[in-house]
Amino acid sequence: MDETIILGLESSCDETAAAIVRADKTILANRVAGQEEEHRPYGGVVPEVAARAHAERLAPMVEAALADANLRLADIDAIAATAGPGLIGGVMVGLVTGKALAVATGKPLIAVNHLEGHALSPRLVGDVPFPYLLLLVSGGHCQLLRVEGVGAYRRLGTTIDDAAGEAFDKVAKLLGLGYPGGPAVERWARRGDPCRFDLPRPLKGTAEPHFSFAGLKSAVLREAGKLGTPDDTDKADLCASFQAAVVDSILDRTRRALDLAPDVTALVVAGGVAANSAIRAGLEALANRQGLPFIAPPGWLCTDNAAMIAWAGLERFRLGLTDGLDAPARARWPLDPNAARAPGAGVKA
Ligand code: KG4
Ligand code: ZN
Repeated sequence: MDETIILGLESSCDETAAAIVRADKTILANRVAGQEEEHRPYGGVVPEVAARAHAERLAPMVEAALADANLRLADIDAIAATAGPGLIGGVMVGLVTGKALAVATGKPLIAVNHLEGHALSPRLVGDVPFPYLLLLVSGGHCQLLRVEGVGAYRRLGTTIDDAAGEAFDKVAKLLGLGYPGGPAVERWARRGDPCRFDLPRPLKGTAEPHFSFAGLKSAVLREAGKLGTPDDTDKADLCASFQAAVVDSILDRTRRALDLAPDVTALVVAGGVAANSAIRAGLEALANRQGLPFIAPPGWLCTDNAAMIAWAGLERFRLGLTDGLDAPARARWPLDPNAARAPGAGVKA
């Protein structure tokens, strides 16, 4: 039996995380510390603040994870650290920590693409064969990927401006609903009328399944401006109308991606925005209509964590894919190199 044990480190955005995962999919430790308190005064993630917090927390967190698992560093077979994409200061903290641990233990380093962590995460908790369609929706990413195998991804669509979670956060900020915005907007939307405001569905019906949310956010801003000082009913209606537009847009784009990838075995959603019940329900209905299983990993695995990095490290390690100590930290690192070269200035990696 494969008893490989991997230590995973994650620090690419505002979650500091360390986890230990065994090849039989047992999660021996899974520590995550958010930074909401630090970033709340600014209404969004401040890169410098995030990097400092990672630097303070990561090393003690590795110790704590080892204690949780009742293991010593010597028991770990390889160290997997997120090497990008993300906020470069934080990525460097995690990658350098991983390199130091690799040198100290003489164990191999695996430089993991954070997006690959999300992409392979459903395989940590279930038996999900390749290829599958992944909708990755978070504060930093909004992509549709055909996951073909470890290291093999075809990006079918991405956002040309903001990520979906970013749009939720910005709408929450402009309505004064607090940070992080997604859960607040969803709560307000429950009491609102989704038809009161006629908001745009950006890119709906276009051939390539890309996303755009900046125009939608501006439309919410315009409507809020017309109201002067929105009262609670206005806010609820704006949230409900905004969320309905996001759901509509995501479903249209995902349906289009399924047309382009007719051989996939499942529709998988990951990322913090996957916690939104309206989005989940819409995707589930879409998958049902297409006769596909709908897979949404549990919330703790959808948001940023190190268990998914350890797991991606494990999948790579099994294939002999380890990295040198000169592995670079990357702010941008598209999963699909062909998509990176594709035309379309402004399309985010
Ligand atoms: O994956 P995640 O924890 O971090 C990254 O961005 O990588 O995602 C956080 C994002 C935030 O933008 C947050 O507002 C959004 O996910 N989010 C939601 C909900 N819960 C979290 N968006 C909409 N509805 C929610 N219930
Ligand atoms: Zn993420």
